[in-house]
Amino acid sequence: MKPIALASDHAGYELKTVLAGELEAAGYAVLDLGTDGPDSVDYPDYGHALAAAISEGRAERGVAVCGTGIGISIALNRHPGVRAALCHDDTSARLAREHNDANVLALGARLIGSEVAKDCLKVFLDTRFAEGRHVGRVAKLG
Ligand code: RB5
Repeated sequence: MKPIALASDHAGYELKTVLAGELEAAGYAVLDLGTDGPDSVDYPDYGHALAAAISEGRAERGVAVCGTGIGISIALNRHPGVRAALCHDDTSARLAREHNDANVLALGARLIGSEVAKDCLKVFLDTRFAEGRHVGRVAKLG
């Protein structure tokens, strides 16, 4: 199985570290694209790096974290084939997979706690795309 790619800015660094530990404990390989500490960086750089990892086939799924999850998901969704979903709870994470076939989970570290983020991560990884009526809609995303 390909690794799960992780990327964050400084605001998401701590939560990214927590989620990397969760993934490794669950047996996933992790491709950590940074940032590597709390020093201020620009979230688009990390969103674009994660999008490149998906586009180049180095990872099939990713997790992106910034303060709100908004900026990094905007950067990710500028790339064809990347479907980043900003999720706030297990329901949004489930529906992002079932309906949107999202391949990147985006989280806002300043908006949700680490336990909610862990729930989002588990549900995101465990939920399959529902296909059916959603296939054509997702295809229209380009
Ligand atoms: C950084 O201060 C913050 O703007 C960033 O993490 C993110 O929330 C942007 O959308």
